[in-house]
Amino acid sequence: MPYVVAATWSFGLKAVSRAAEILTLNGNALDAVEEGIKVVELDPEVLTVGLGGIPNLKGVCELDASIMDGYSLKAGAVGGVRNVLHPISVARKVLELTPHILLVGDEAIDFASKLGLTVSEFTWKKGALEKWRELLSSINLGVGLQPYMDKIKAYIEHYRLHETISVVALDRYGNIASGSSTTGLPLKIPGRVGDSAIIGAGVYADNDVGAACTTGVGEIAQITLLSKNVCDLIRTGLDPQDACEKAIENTFRYKYYHGGIAVLAIDREGRIGAASSRKDFVYAYIAEGMDKPKVEAGVYVDSSEY
Ligand code: GLY
Repeated sequence: MPYVVAATWSFGLKAVSRAAEILTLNGNALDAVEEGIKVVELDPEVLTVGLGGIPNLKGVCELDASIMDGYSLKAGAVGGVRNVLHPISVARKVLELTPHILLVGDEAIDFASKLGLTVSEFTWKKGALEKWRELLSSINLGVGLQPYMDKIKAYIEHYRLHETISVVALDRYGNIASGSSTTGLPLKIPGRVGDSAIIGAGVYADNDVGAACTTGVGEIAQITLLSKNVCDLIRTGLDPQDACEKAIENTFRYKYYHGGIAVLAIDREGRIGAASSRKDFVYAYIAEGMDKPKVEAGVYVDSSEY
C-alpha cells in the first residue's frame, strides 16, 4: 500500500519530511507521526509548539500531546506537562507502558522523569517571552474574576495564534496513526488542558476508517469531538474532504466560542481532507512517489452561512 502523511500548517513540511524518511524505509505510521512531531517540538521558529514556546497566563510553559494507533485503537496522552522536550514521546510511552490513556500535571511529569524524558533547564524559543508580554499587555486584565474571564474569552476569539502541530499517517502496511503536540493557547489559564491531549477531540485513528487531527481553539474540538466526528463521517461513506467540511459545519452549533478551528484527515485509501473555519489554514503532505512535500490550503467553511 502507498504511504501518505499530512501535517498541519506550513511548519508541518518538516514533520512530513521526517515522517516520510521513516515510511520509505517500511517504518510504521506510529513512529512516523511521533518522529515528525518531534522535529517541530524542537523547531526554534515555532512558538506555539514545544518547550520554550509562548507560555500560559502565569508565564509557565505547560504542554499537551497525544498519539493514537489505528491498529490497536490504543492511545496515550499528556496534559499540562512542564520541563519535557518531547511531550509526544511521553504520550507514546503512556500508550505503550500504561493501561491508561491520559496523564496530567505533576504526576505526568514524574512519569516522564522516571523515563528520562524531562530536562532540568530549558531556553525560551527566541521571541516567545516578548510575544507573551505583548499579549499580556494587550488584554489588560485588570481586577476581578469575571472581567478577567471575559477578557480571556474575547482574546481567544480574536487572537489567531493557535498553531498546533498535528500529523496523520498511513504506512505501507495499511496502519494509520494520528498525533498532536502544542504549548496550548498562548495565555491559557494555568491548568487548562486543550484538544491536543484529548483522544477523539485533537486526534483519532482507526485502521478500518482513517485518521483525523485538529488545530485551532481547542475547546471547539473538545466539545464536538471533532477528530472522532470526522472518522465517524468517513465510516458512513463520505470521502475525507466532505467529512472534514461537514464536521467543521457541525462545530458551528457550539454557541460559546467562534474562534478558528481546522481539521485534517486521511482515509484508509490514503485520500486527504482538510477544512477550517479560518481562511488561512494550510497543511503539508507527502505521498509515496512524490519527490518533495507540498503545502495546500484547507477548504474554508464560512460560519456566517450557518
Ligand atoms: N489546539 C490547541 C489548543 O487549543 O490548545
